[in-house]
Amino acid sequence: MTFEKILVTGAGGQIGSELVPFLSDVFGRDRVIPSDIRSNSADSRFLKLDVTDRASVDLAIDKYKIDTIFHLAAVLSANGEKNPELAYKVNISGLYDILESSIKSRVKLVITPSSIGIFGPDTPKENVPIETIARPVTMYGITKLMAEHLGNYYHARFGLNARGLRFPGLISYKTPPGGGTTDYSIEMIMEAVKGKSYQCFLREDTRLPMMYMPDALDCLLRLAEADETRLKHRTDFNVSSFSMTPKQLEMELRNYYPSFEVTYRPDFRQKIADSWPGSLDASAAVSEWDFHPNYDFKATTKDMIANLKR
Ligand SMILES: NC(=O)c1ccc[n+]([C@@H]2O[C@H](COP(=O)([O-])OP(=O)(O)OC[C@H]3O[C@@H](n4cnc5c(N)ncnc54)[C@H](O)[C@@H]3O)[C@@H](O)[C@H]2O)c1
Repeated sequence: MTFEKILVTGAGGQIGSELVPFLSDVFGRDRVIPSDIRSNSADSRFLKLDVTDRASVDLAIDKYKIDTIFHLAAVLSANGEKNPELAYKVNISGLYDILESSIKSRVKLVITPSSIGIFGPDTPKENVPIETIARPVTMYGITKLMAEHLGNYYHARFGLNARGLRFPGLISYKTPPGGGTTDYSIEMIMEAVKGKSYQCFLREDTRLPMMYMPDALDCLLRLAEADETRLKHRTDFNVSSFSMTPKQLEMELRNYYPSFEVTYRPDFRQKIADSWPGSLDASAAVSEWDFHPNYDFKATTKDMIANLKR
């Protein structure tokens, strides 16, 4: 029986801070244990847990009788290029600890988000299928690609129900993004709402796949609850709601804030973005677990503005 006790690692991050209340609403507050290497004193359930400390991971899984893990602890793309060693340690050794602890305990299901970062400059640019050329050029992408393979390996070798999906850039307003290459989208909307101008770190024509956080949370739940007999894929589902460029976002924001101005000064993140595709083929997620995003580009921008104004 899964979902009796759910551990969320990296719960203080952009996704975790929204996934914890979401899962608590669905399954009940007592069933969700949020954890992170950074402490969050506001939530009495919160557990301080470093996923690279195997003994502590073992202890937490045992103590709370965990059967399901949403493993979100990670170092993202831009931060990973600043500190590749840390990215390797957290994204690979941390996942290894979670998988090893899981097969030695009662954990049945481990969900680990992957990323469009697994693709590289040799990958086709548009409507990219799941199986394609994937030669990432960032430490983040390398670790995420290996994470997909590790999940498949632990399923094939040990029967662990490891699942995952490749998130595109995620847009949300509750928690600041954690050092990714698509962070510009959130920053640009925030600055527009504040009545300020924005200096974008990507070129204006950099087209990338994106998704609004409510759809990302829905994806994680659908994948976790998906009927095993329908799954032909396991750890590498492509998901995306829409694709956009910084310029398109600037123009959309100008519909709300006519004097909003953006300047473009690409930095090291441009090279990362240039290695990623512009759009994904998400048909496997549709056919295997009914992926169904509700927010397109315009709806996402509108909802972000409405919430940031509150
Ligand atoms: N946000 C996005 O746009 C996006 C896109 C694609 C994939 N993802 C994936 O989703 C997952 C969650 O991403 P996010 O955006 O919430 O990231 P984030 O950077 O906002 O949060 C990650 C959290 O992990 C924690 N952490 C770091 N090292 C840790 C350790 N050793 N032990 C425990 N916790 C540790 C951090 O404190 C942070 O709170 C990651 O696997 C990421 O690769 C995110």
